[in-house]
Amino acid sequence: MAVMKIQAPKGTLDLLPAEASKWHFVEGLAHEISAIYHYGEIRTPIFESTDLFHRGVGETSDMVRKETYDFEDRGGRKLTLRPEGTAGAARAVIEHGLLDQQGSRVKVYYIGPNVRYERPQKGRYHIHHQFGIEAYGVSEAEQDAECIQLQMDFYRRCGLKDLALRVNSLGDRETKQKYREMLVAFLSPKRASLSEDSQRRLDENPLRILDSKLPEDVAACEGAPSAISALSEASRAHFERVCALLTSAQVPFTVDSTLVRGFDYYTGTLWEVTAGGLGSQAAVGGGGRYDNLVEHLGGRPTPAVGFGCGLERLLLALEAQGAALPNSDRKLVWLAQHGDVAKEHNLKLLAELRAAGIATDMDLAGRGMKGQLKAASNANAAFTIVVGDDELATNVVQLKNFATGEQTSVPRDQVVGKLHELLSR
Ligand code: HAM
Repeated sequence: MAVMKIQAPKGTLDLLPAEASKWHFVEGLAHEISAIYHYGEIRTPIFESTDLFHRGVGETSDMVRKETYDFEDRGGRKLTLRPEGTAGAARAVIEHGLLDQQGSRVKVYYIGPNVRYERPQKGRYHIHHQFGIEAYGVSEAEQDAECIQLQMDFYRRCGLKDLALRVNSLGDRETKQKYREMLVAFLSPKRASLSEDSQRRLDENPLRILDSKLPEDVAACEGAPSAISALSEASRAHFERVCALLTSAQVPFTVDSTLVRGFDYYTGTLWEVTAGGLGSQAAVGGGGRYDNLVEHLGGRPTPAVGFGCGLERLLLALEAQGAALPNSDRKLVWLAQHGDVAKEHNLKLLAELRAAGIATDMDLAGRGMKGQLKAASNANAAFTIVVGDDELATNVVQLKNFATGEQTSVPRDQVVGKLHELLSR
C-alpha cells in the first residue's frame, strides 16, 4: 500500500539547521537590545482563552472576525492560538500582580510564534515569529519615543537598511470618537461605492476602511479628514512631543495621517516600519500606544505602549538587501580513525573535546577512511584529527586544517590546548 506523504500545513515554514544561525543572530540581538534598554523577558502560553483576544484585540477587528484559530479542548474550554503578543502579555502582568502598586512601571519583551489565518504569500504565513516589547505605566511621550528608538536600534544592529518609519496618532478616547464621527460623515454618502467589507466596517469600525487596499475603498477615502486634524489639545501635545523626541534622537520618520493599525486596542501614537526589498508585505514591524487595554482586561487603569517586529520578514529583507550575517556556528572538529582500536581511542577523545567545549563529531557507522573524510567535508569541519596504529604507538594524533590542507602531528596530551588555540583565531 502506498503511504501518503504528510506535508507541513499550508502557510507554515520549517526552520532547518542550515538556516538556524541567522535566527540565532537576530534573536541574540533581540535579547541584547532588550537588556540594554532594561526590558525583562516574558513567555506566555501559545494559546489563551478565546475571550482574551475577543476582548483585547477587539470583536470587530479583522483579526478576530476571520484570522484567529479558535478551538475547544477536550475539557470543553474555548481557546484561541495566540495571534499576537500584546493581549497575552497584558493578561500575564495583570494576573501576576506586576501592576498592582500605584505607579508601577513594568517593561517586558518576548520572542515567539503567533498564528493567524491570513492568505499565505511571500512574507505572510499562518505561523510567524515576533520580537516584541511592551512598556506599562508611563503615559508620557518619552515612553513612546523609547519604544520607537529601541525598535530602530534593533534594526540597525541587525544591519537592515532602506527603512521607512511612519507615525500617526489616533488620540485619546474623546479624539477617537470625534474622528470616527468625522469619517462616518465623510464616507456615508459614498457607502454604495465601498467594498462589501468596508460597508460593514462603516457601521462597526470605520477607521479600518482607511487600511483597505481595495481600489474602490482607496478611491472613496481620497480627501478624507485626517486623524491628526481631530486630535484633542492633550493628544496633539503628546504627539508633537513624540515627533520632537524622535527628531532630537535623529530617528528619521514621516507623519502619515492615513496610518491605522489592525487592532482595536490602540489609543494614541501609532507607527509602522517598512523595509526595502520585501515587495507587497513590506511592514517589518509596528506598534502603538494602548492606554485602555489593561483596564479593559480587568487590571487597574495603566497606560501602555509597545511594538512587534516580524522576524521572518526581517530575515527576508536582510537577504533581499544582501546583508552579510555573521555565521555564529561553532567551528567543528571531526575525528577519523583506521581500525577498531583507534575507534575506541577516538570515542574517548570525542568525550574529552566535548567536555572542553569544542564542537566535535565523528562517524558512528563504521565507514572506511574515505567515507569518514567525506562526512567531515559534508559537515563543513574546520579540522580533522586522524588516528591509526602509528599514532596510537607514538601517542600522537594527525591534525589537519581543512581549509589550508596543513597537517601537523600533535602529542595526545596537547590536543585540547592546541585546538583551543587554533579555534580562538
Ligand atoms: P502587527 O503589525 O500585527 O502588530 O504585527 C507586527 C509585525 O509582525 C508585522 O509588522 C509583520 O512584520 C509581522 N507579521 C504580522 N503578521 C504576519 C504574518 N502573517 N506573517 C509574517 N509576518 C507577520 C502586532 O502584532 C502588535 N501586537 C504589535 C504591538 C505590540 N502593538 C503594541 N504592542
